[in-house]
Amino acid sequence: MMIRLPYIEPVFRPPSEAHSLILQVTNGCSWNRCTFCEMYTQPQKKFRLKPQEKIEQELEAIARSGAPVRRVFLADGDAMVLSFRRLQGILLAIHRYLPGVQRVSSYCLPRNLKSKTIQELAELEQLGLRLFYVGCESGDDLVLERVNKGENFATSLAALQKIKAAGVKSSVMILNGMGGKRYSHQHAINSALLMNEAQPEYLSTLVVSFPAGVDRYQAGFGGEFEPLGQTGLFQEMFWLLDALELENTIFRSDHASNYLVLKGTLKRDKPRLLKTVSDALERPGAVNLRPEWMRGL
Ligand SMILES: C[S@@+](CC[C@H](N)C(=O)[O-])C[C@H]1O[C@@H](n2cnc3c(N)ncnc32)[C@H](O)[C@@H]1O
Ligand code: SF4
Repeated sequence: MMIRLPYIEPVFRPPSEAHSLILQVTNGCSWNRCTFCEMYTQPQKKFRLKPQEKIEQELEAIARSGAPVRRVFLADGDAMVLSFRRLQGILLAIHRYLPGVQRVSSYCLPRNLKSKTIQELAELEQLGLRLFYVGCESGDDLVLERVNKGENFATSLAALQKIKAAGVKSSVMILNGMGGKRYSHQHAINSALLMNEAQPEYLSTLVVSFPAGVDRYQAGFGGEFEPLGQTGLFQEMFWLLDALELENTIFRSDHASNYLVLKGTLKRDKPRLLKTVSDALERPGAVNLRPEWMRGL
């Protein structure tokens, strides 16, 4: 069930929120400067907060429709930029209009949490905000600088630790291929180190892609970005997996943008996942790769 509201398109959500009510509480992304991300660059996606009355009108319409809603995803790109008070008001309204909702989730940039205390986050968790999707993309400071993420290892770790301390779950995204050939190894190793320190509940990797061309991205690398081919992407995935020391994290690398589909729980499935990647490296014909035409964001 996908309930359609008067969205300002395009609207993005994580694959695992396919059956959730997508509630647009902001339009666009307040940062909007990561050089790989074209999600909110169209003119109609200029960043704006949505007034509480409008959000409540939408919730009321959903309630009247009688559609059973169990999960809500707060869109767009970084709804957690809203103040604690505004988020509290939104969560209370969700609870009031849709009492059957069991989980609310949102994208979350590390810097969105700077002005929020652990106690405030714990309070939001009590009001239903259970999961944050955090686009760390990399644990390597140099790569993060090249792509203008505006975050680094330390800020990403601080946010992930705050989330954990508040009892909220985190689902981290790492971008395979983001450093190109030159930074591939350090990108993999430092991303693994960040995850090892943070121990998120979920980790997924996506292959970086350039739907609007690579020029903007190249500029950040001084024109020296060399994209990874399939083998390079697998090699980087091997380095990442090999260096991960996770206790109990659900790992997925099954986004439509990935060539190789990997799923498991780390650490339990680490040997199996490593074997699949090394098989893909050694004998590309032997593993189940997605055909080229099925890829795409
Ligand atoms: C809609 S964005 C919102 C995430 C949130 N603003 C953040 O930065 O944490 C969701 C994720 O899509 C992924 N993404 C964006 N552009 C991409 C691209 N060109 N190729 C692959 N993944 C991309 C990134 O991992 C990003 O964190
Ligand atoms: S990746 Fe996230 S923070 Fe960066 S521009 Fe896209 S939506 Fe904004």
